[in-house]
Amino acid sequence: MQIKKNLRVSFVISVVLIIVVFSCNNGEIKETEDKTNSVITYADNISFILFKNCTPCHRPNQAGPFNLLTYTDAKRNAKKIKFVTQTHYMPPWPADAAYTHFVDERILSADEIEQIKTWVDNGCLAGDTTKVKAPTFYEGSFFGKPDVVVKLQESIPIKGNGTDHFYMVKIPFELKHDTFVRFIEFVPQQRKLAHHVNGHLLNYEDGKKKDVFKGISYYKDIPGGDKDVYKLMGLLNDDGTYPVLTPNLVYYLPGYTPPVYPENIGGYKLNKKGSFFLKNLHYGPSAHDCLDSSTLNIFYGPKLVRPIQETQLGTFGIAPVEPALNIPANAVKTFMSRWVTPIDLSILSVNPHMHLLGKTFWAFALTPQGDTVRLIKINKWDFKWQYYYTFKHPLKIPAGSTVYAYGMYDNTDKNPYNPFHPPRDCKERNDFMSMGTTEEMFQFIFTYLRYQPGDEQIDLEKRKSF
Ligand code: HEC
Repeated sequence: MQIKKNLRVSFVISVVLIIVVFSCNNGEIKETEDKTNSVITYADNISFILFKNCTPCHRPNQAGPFNLLTYTDAKRNAKKIKFVTQTHYMPPWPADAAYTHFVDERILSADEIEQIKTWVDNGCLAGDTTKVKAPTFYEGSFFGKPDVVVKLQESIPIKGNGTDHFYMVKIPFELKHDTFVRFIEFVPQQRKLAHHVNGHLLNYEDGKKKDVFKGISYYKDIPGGDKDVYKLMGLLNDDGTYPVLTPNLVYYLPGYTPPVYPENIGGYKLNKKGSFFLKNLHYGPSAHDCLDSSTLNIFYGPKLVRPIQETQLGTFGIAPVEPALNIPANAVKTFMSRWVTPIDLSILSVNPHMHLLGKTFWAFALTPQGDTVRLIKINKWDFKWQYYYTFKHPLKIPAGSTVYAYGMYDNTDKNPYNPFHPPRDCKERNDFMSMGTTEEMFQFIFTYLRYQPGDEQIDLEKRKSF
C-alpha cells in the first residue's frame, strides 16, 4: 500500500516537473523533440548525402561496384550502406579530417552517419521521390570540351586472371608548335579496373628526336623486370640522352579530379614533340580478359607565370629514410625523413606514399619559431587510396623550417595486406625494383610554389569552368 502511494506521489511530481520544464524551457525542448520524432526519408535526407559523397564513384562507368543514383539503388544496398558508413570504410578518405582539411574532402559527419542508420533501421522510407533530382555528371570530362584528346597508341590487354596489373605506357604526340597546358585529365576507359595512374611529361628539344612514335608503346611492369624501359620504349633522345622530364602531371585515382589552380598558378610547357609517360598505370584484378583504351584530355592555358614544383622526401628523394627502410619479418617499425627548406614555400598538395605494409603516416613542419604547421595524418593507411591532397589555401612554410614525415609499417601476420604469410624480411632498395607492390617505399611527395605574400588568401577550392 505504502509503496503504491509513493509511486503515485512520485508520478504526480514527475508530471508536474515535466510540465514545468516544458513551459519554462519551451523552445529548446521542442527542438530536440522534433529531431527525434522527425521522419528520415530518402527524398528529404538520404539522397543528398549519397549524391555528394557516394555517387561520384557509384554510377555507371565509375569505380564503385554498384550505382547509387536512385531510391531503388539505395534501398537495394541499404544494409551494406549502413555497414560501410558505420565502419567509415566509405567514402574512402584516409586523411584524418581532425588534423587537416583538403579540397574535395569526402567524409560524412556523425550526424549524417546516424541519419543513414536511422533510415535503414526504419525500413528505408522513400518520401516524395518525385522531387529528387540526381545531379548530372559529366561524360568524358569533368570540365568541358578539351582542346586536344590524346589516345593510347594501342589498346592495353588486361588478363582476366584475378590479379593486379601494372603497366608503363607512352602516349607520344606531335603538335604544330610548342604550347602551354593548363592541366591534363586522365579519362579511363575501363573505369572499374583503372585504379591508379601516375605519369610524367617528356619534352624533346628541337632536333633531338626524329620519331616520337617509334618503340613499344606499353610495357608490363613486373617487379625486378627490365630496367631499360626508356630504351625499349624509345623514350630517349636520338643521341641516347634523357629528354627533359616534368614529373607527375598526369594523375588519376577513382573519384579524383585534377585541381584547377587560378590563372597564374601552374601549367606546363609542351614542346611540339613529346610523350606522356604513364610510369605507373595500375589496373585492379579482372574476372575476364579485356582491353583498355583510356585517353588524356588536354586543356591549353596561358604562358607560365608561377610553375608548380614538386619534390619528395624519402625513397628517391631529397632526404633519406632514417633509418634505412629495412622491415624485418614480424616487426612493426617506424621510419622518418626530414628536410630543412631553404626558401619560403607555399605548399599546394601532399601525397604520402607507402605500399602494402604501410600502417600510419604523419607529416608536419616545425618553423624556426617553434610553431607546428600541420600537413597530413593518416591513421589507417590504405594502399588503394593514395590521393594528392590539395590544401584549401596554399600553406606557408617559412625558410628554415624542418619538414618531418613519419611512416609506420607492419610486417606481421596481423597485417591483412601483408603480401607474404608467413612474413618475409623486407629490405631497402633504392632502384627501379622498389616500385613493385610487394617491395616497400617511403615517400612524402609535395607540390609547392615559391611563397609570395597573399598566397594564403588564394582559394584553391574554386574551380574554373571551361
Ligand atoms: C572515391 C570513390 C568512391 C566513393 C566516393 C565511394 N565509394 Fe563505395 N566503393 C568504391 C570502390 C572502388 C569500391 C570497391 C572496392 C572496395 O571495396 O574498396 C566500393 C565499395 C563499396 C561498398 C562495398 C560493396 C561490397 O559489396 O563489398 C559499399 C557498400 C559502398 N562502396 C558504399 C559507398 C557509400 C555508401 C558511399 C558514400 C557514403 C561510397 N561507397 C563512396 C568507390 C567509392
